[in-house]
Amino acid sequence: MTSLPDEPQVPAARRSLLEALGRRTARNPANLAAVVREELKMDLTARYAGLSVPHPFGIGSGQLSCTLKQVEDSVAAGVAFIVLKTVIAENPTGGRRMDAWTKRETRMKVEKRRGWTVTWKGRGWSGSLEEYLAFLEQSLAAARAQDVPVIPSVKYHLPAAGEPFDTGEYRHTTQALLKVWGRAGCGGDMILEKDFSPTLAGDDLAGLRESVLRWIREVPALITGNVRLGLKLMNALFDDAFQVEMLQAASSAAFLVVFNRLFDQARGVAYGGYDLSDRNLRVLDLAAKYRLPPLAGTGNICSGRMMLEYAQRGCESGQLHTFFQLPVSEYTGTGGGRIARALHTLLLHPTEGLVVWLWHLAETGAIEPRDGVLHFLDAVVRHGD
Ligand SMILES: Cc1cc2nc3c(=O)[nH]c(=O)nc-3n(C[C@H](O)[C@H](O)[C@H](O)COP(=O)(O)O)c2cc1C
Repeated sequence: MTSLPDEPQVPAARRSLLEALGRRTARNPANLAAVVREELKMDLTARYAGLSVPHPFGIGSGQLSCTLKQVEDSVAAGVAFIVLKTVIAENPTGGRRMDAWTKRETRMKVEKRRGWTVTWKGRGWSGSLEEYLAFLEQSLAAARAQDVPVIPSVKYHLPAAGEPFDTGEYRHTTQALLKVWGRAGCGGDMILEKDFSPTLAGDDLAGLRESVLRWIREVPALITGNVRLGLKLMNALFDDAFQVEMLQAASSAAFLVVFNRLFDQARGVAYGGYDLSDRNLRVLDLAAKYRLPPLAGTGNICSGRMMLEYAQRGCESGQLHTFFQLPVSEYTGTGGGRIARALHTLLLHPTEGLVVWLWHLAETGAIEPRDGVLHFLDAVVRHGD
């Protein structure tokens, strides 16, 4: 399914240079994108939701973006962007049509299942919209000095066939978030992700293909105001061709996140690993001829090499969860927190990292340096081109 070979083709001298840099930075993995630019003449600049970010690795919405401390630590570690945990939309009186998604979670477990996966039974942010607004405001403030984008994520009402959308809930929640965005002085449009959760795929509603397509087509028009809207698409319980239909239905979004975790109906849990990345990459291949909004990839991005597999299918950045939760013995970074160590691995691992695989793409003629510098974004193959 993946298209890169097992081993990167890179001259020995370059490998040695990379290994030396990896060793030197392992205990204090800070500002790695700047170090790579300076010392290896490689520009790792990526794009998320139209924003320029220093490298492609951001934190996907989930259990690693639920508290202010997590946001502060992730900013300090140098992540490219942070999507906050998904909040469940509320109407003006505090009612929530998707209330079932606020169920309290069980403990997370990191397991192997064709690659790593996190097993967890839980859903959205378990608190109220008001609490989330305070969390968003504090997170935006905490990230401002380092200029790390912080993005809210929302699950709004998704009606059954024939039912209307609860537009009051859409309006109230979006306006409340926009107020915080404006107060925080962020300027410009608010970037917002609308989450179509994988747990939803196990819900009866998702059995109705027409409902899913209707949601994807109609939701963007309901989220109004100065919003740059991204749709985080789920993996539905249907075949690859249906995933492509979903992508085509999503053409009015400002950007797409593709695709959230698979659903194991027998165990009643969402999962990832290679099953997820195989499916995602396969669907992106099938959709290659269609013009799509800008893409961010998600699903088993556990190496720079996997990030490039997504990039070669149109993804300008990646949203990670699982890789930031591995046992620390899995990381090449040996100092700093877990996320800094993980970033060290994603960028500088001698056979799996982003740097070595960008060199491989240059060696094989897929990308060329410009003014002596190799660019990550040159490895992104846009859909429809
Ligand atoms: C424990 C857990 C909770 C998650 N919660 C959310 C969520 O609330 N909203 C959302 O959009 N995605 C959620 N996700 C999906 C992740 O953001 C990510 O897209 C997915 O796990 C695939 O990336 P990975 O293979 O790197 O884990 C969650 C994932 C995990 C593992």
